Amino acid sequence: MTIQIENLTKTYHGEGVVTAALQEVNLTIREEEFVAIVGPSGSGKSTLLQLIGTLDVPTTGEVLYDGVNVGKLKGNALADFRFATIGFIFQQFHLLPTLTALENVMSPLFPRKVGYNKKDRAQELLEWVGLSHKQDALPSQLSGGEQQRVAIARALVNRPKWLLADEPTGNLDTSNGELIFQLLKKYRKEHGSGIVFVTHDERLASQTDRRIEMRDGRIITEKMR
Ligand SMILES: Nc1ncnc2c1ncn2[C@@H]1O[C@H](COP(=O)(O)OP(=O)(O)O)[C@@H](O)[C@H]1O
Ligand SMILES: [Mg+2]
Repeated sequence: MTIQIENLTKTYHGEGVVTAALQEVNLTIREEEFVAIVGPSGSGKSTLLQLIGTLDVPTTGEVLYDGVNVGKLKGNALADFRFATIGFIFQQFHLLPTLTALENVMSPLFPRKVGYNKKDRAQELLEWVGLSHKQDALPSQLSGGEQQRVAIARALVNRPKWLLADEPTGNLDTSNGELIFQLLKKYRKEHGSGIVFVTHDERLASQTDRRIEMRDGRIITEKMR
């Protein structure tokens, strides 16, 4: 699946303040590509990722997946598209505090009808991130690195075609960050999925296919490898 971003603009209107978070961004991300987005704080990285992930709507412009304009999808159709296509990972993990690790991984499946056993699938993913032994732990009983691995298992539970990660290693030490990065790479290799990865870590960015640098809501450089 190819992602096409056309003339994407996002403007926020606050109390007397107008912020042009994204300005006329054009970008094509190829099927199975691994893209790093870098740039200073406030340059529009998270805004871009949220628009790609259909978590927010642009002020102008379009996001197309294999030619399908996701801005035209409404309600259930949009939710279905997101469930089938996109896995999101955040810097702050965003696990549900009252659910166990296993329940967190299963949670995207709760309202869904799927052609596989939900618990088996969630356990398979927890094993894949090396946390089978923690399946009954609450998030508060897990380290940061473990919480992010649970969040990754949750993001991957329906095998999305695209993985969108917003500074997933930003709250972790170097070795845990490296572990998370390796898991993303491994998933991509095993399932032929693409990754859009926002990071401040140039060492990790240099290990992707393409480095996109943003400043003031625009893409300023693209380096292909
Ligand atoms: N919900 C919001 N309301 C108002 N302004 C926002 C909102 N989200 C982001 N912004 C502003 O948009 C700009 C880009 O933010 P963001 O995309 O979060 O940048 P980055 O992820 O690169 O740090 C910043 O100036 C930020 O303050
Ligand atoms: Mg951000």
